[in-house]
Amino acid sequence: MREFETILVTGGAGFIGSNLVRYLLGPSGFQGKVVNLDALTYAGNLESLADVAERFGGSRYFFERVDIRDATAVNGVFERHLPDAVIHLAAESHVDRSIIGPRDFLETNILGTFTILEAARAAWNKRSDVLFHHVSTDEVYGSLGETGNFTEMTPYDPRSPYSASKAASDHLVSAYSHTYGLPSTISNCSNNYGPFQFPEKLVPLMIMNMLEGKSLPVYGDGRNVRDWLYVEDHASAIWLVVKSGALGEKYNVGGDSEWENIRLLRELMAAVSRRTGRDARDYERLITYVKDRPGHDRRYSIDCSKIKRELGWSPSVSFAQGLERTVDWYIGNPGWIERVRSGAYRQWIEKNYGSRG
Ligand code: NAD
Ligand code: DAU
Repeated sequence: MREFETILVTGGAGFIGSNLVRYLLGPSGFQGKVVNLDALTYAGNLESLADVAERFGGSRYFFERVDIRDATAVNGVFERHLPDAVIHLAAESHVDRSIIGPRDFLETNILGTFTILEAARAAWNKRSDVLFHHVSTDEVYGSLGETGNFTEMTPYDPRSPYSASKAASDHLVSAYSHTYGLPSTISNCSNNYGPFQFPEKLVPLMIMNMLEGKSLPVYGDGRNVRDWLYVEDHASAIWLVVKSGALGEKYNVGGDSEWENIRLLRELMAAVSRRTGRDARDYERLITYVKDRPGHDRRYSIDCSKIKRELGWSPSVSFAQGLERTVDWYIGNPGWIERVRSGAYRQWIEKNYGSRG
């Protein structure tokens, strides 16, 4: 098992990043320092880590507002904090945004990853007691028909600017491992849900719209399939790979919990009605089938037997429990939601979607 003193987490103010930072400084048992490097785009919010900063700030938790495309600033972070591990999450992450404006995705996800890799290579100078872990997505594998699933051997076939940029970043990490001997691992995970997810993604968007009596926009026929994993279980998978994953290897991560979007929405309606006391039929009336996402991947299904078999990982939160927790969290945190939805996000959403969001 690898031991580290200082872990640099990029994108730590985002959805998965903030949950991961909290997990590292809590349940993981890691005793060292965590440095959160994040540019605080519309999706990054330090409020998601207020409890962590309060408890560990200045002793075991540090924040650096830095853009991963800025090589000088990134090198400065390596010089100041001397990390011996990097967990790289910083990215543009929303498929719809990548369709409307791909440039930021290429710049952050590809050039930004390149910049972080170069900084790590220079700072570590062939050290072997270090690790670069890259957090990626199952979307790099493309789209499935009615049958089959993605294994770590499935050829890459990305279909959106987002997934193409993530595929490119995976290849860069792999190239740095082969060419420069950079100790690295990659994980490819399915759809995450849970607290602190920006309310543009399916689960929080639908919860918010139900609570506000707005329409529930279902793309196409609503029968696209995604696999869902509670975010804390993703954090535990990442930590296991960082500690014990074989160098140069990639690991699929998923919840063995596949749902057609429309069926997931009905589960969510039931969970929200249990909390609000409203009849689920009130929410059913809000369902609106809208124009499909261009190039919408039909089905994802991830085989994560490798991480289970080799590293002993398994998800600890069932889909039903995860949904209840998530609904509770969004109902219990109206201030967080209000604040992340104001400002830049509001302007962007109004420009591109009118009042739908
Ligand atoms: P997110 O959009 O919630 O957070 C991304 C974070 O990266 C934000 O804090 C943002 O400020 C930061 N960031 C963006 N551009 C940056 C830049 N140029 N420099 C520095 N920081 C920047 O994303 P998420 O859903 O938490 O996803 C995190 C990672 O996990 C991404 O790499 C994503 O591809 C991957 N992933 C996400 C999911 C999912 O379901 N959300 C599933 C599998 C993999
Ligand atoms: O599979 C992992 C990926 O999951 C991550 O790599 C991405 O970062 C993450 O955003 C997510 O991508 P998706 O495109 O699957 O997530 P999203 O929440 O945007 O959409 C989930 C499904 O719901 C998808 O089939 C599109 C559909 N959808 C989405 C929205 C926002 C709707 O029908 N209506 C909506 O309003």
